[in-house]
Amino acid sequence: MNIQGQAALVTGGGSGLGEATARELARLGAKVAVLDLNMANAERVAAEIGGVAVHCNVSDADSMAQAIQTASAAHGTARILMQIAGIGTAKRVVGKDGKAAPLEEFAKVINVNLIGTYNAARLFAEACSKLDPLEDGARGVMVFTSSVAAFDGQVGQQAYSASKAGVVGMTLPMARDLAQHGIRVCTIAPGLFKTPLLASLARAGPAIVGGQHPLPRSLGQAQRICRTGLPHRAQRPPERRSHSLGRRAAHGPTLKEKNEQNRCLRRAGGVW
Ligand SMILES: NC(=O)c1ccc[n+]([C@@H]2O[C@H](COP(=O)([O-])OP(=O)(O)OC[C@H]3O[C@@H](n4cnc5c(N)ncnc54)[C@H](O)[C@@H]3O)[C@@H](O)[C@H]2O)c1
Repeated sequence: MNIQGQAALVTGGGSGLGEATARELARLGAKVAVLDLNMANAERVAAEIGGVAVHCNVSDADSMAQAIQTASAAHGTARILMQIAGIGTAKRVVGKDGKAAPLEEFAKVINVNLIGTYNAARLFAEACSKLDPLEDGARGVMVFTSSVAAFDGQVGQQAYSASKAGVVGMTLPMARDLAQHGIRVCTIAPGLFKTPLLASLARAGPAIVGGQHPLPRSLGQAQRICRTGLPHRAQRPPERRSHSLGRRAAHGPTLKEKNEQNRCLRRAGGVW
C-alpha cells in the first residue's frame, strides 16, 4: 500500500515501539492518529508529528469505538491500523511468599494484549470494509504486535506469552476472513527492544529478559521496528525479520489457498 496521504491509527502510539511507528508513518506522509491510554504522551507525539491525539482503552468496546470515530472525523476513515498497545507482567506461578499469583493480573494482560487487539481489529475492519477499494482491490491493512515470547516465553511470562500466542493464533483466521473485504492482516513478533515496557518487566523480577540476544548482543532500538513493521514492509520475505512468524501466518493464505478462496468468493459473488 502507498502510505502517502492515508489515514492511520496507531494504538500505543504514545511510547516505545508505537511512538517510533507513529513517527515513521508520519514521515512517510500518512495522517496519523496517536491512540493511547496515556493522553499526555499521545499529545506529545501527535504535536511533534502533526497528527491527532486520541484517548483510548483498547480493551474497552465503547472507548475504542469512540476513538475510531474521533480519528475518522479528523483524518477520514483509516486504511491502516497498527495495533501496538500492550502491557507486560512478570510473576512466578507460586511466589517467594508461597502464594499463588493473583488471577486478576493474568486476566488483565490477556484483556489488554489479546482482547484489546481483537477489539481494535473488529472495529477498524467494520469501518474499513465500507471504503472503496484501492487500485489493487485492497481496502486496508492491519498489523498486530505479538512477541518472541509467544514462542519462547521466559519464567514469569505466563500471562504475557499466552496473550501474544493468542494474537498469533487469531492472525491467520482473521486474514482469511477479512480477505473478502480486501483487508490484509499481519502480525509481527519482535525480539527485545529497549522501551519503557521492557524496563518494567526487568524491574518486576523473574523474567529478566535483557541481554539474551545471541547476536547482536544488545536490545533493539525502537526506531528499527519500522524496518519490518510498517504495512508496506510487512510483506517482505521472512528473513528480513529478526523473529518472524511462519510464512503463512505473516502473509496470510498461500497462493494455492488464495486461488481456492477466489474460486469460492467468485461463486459467492465476493469482491476479492
Ligand atoms: N519492547 C519489547 O522488547 C517488545 C518485544 C516484543 C513485543 N513488544 C510489544 O510491543 C508493544 C509495544 O511495547 P513497548 O515496549 O513499546 O511498550 P511501551 O510501554 O513503551 O508502550 C506501550 C503503550 O501502550 C499503551 N497502552 C497500554 N495499555 C493500553 C490500553 N489498554 N489502551 C491503550 N493504550 C494502552 C501505553 O500507555 C503505552 O503508551 C506491546 O504490545 C509489547 O507487548 C515489545
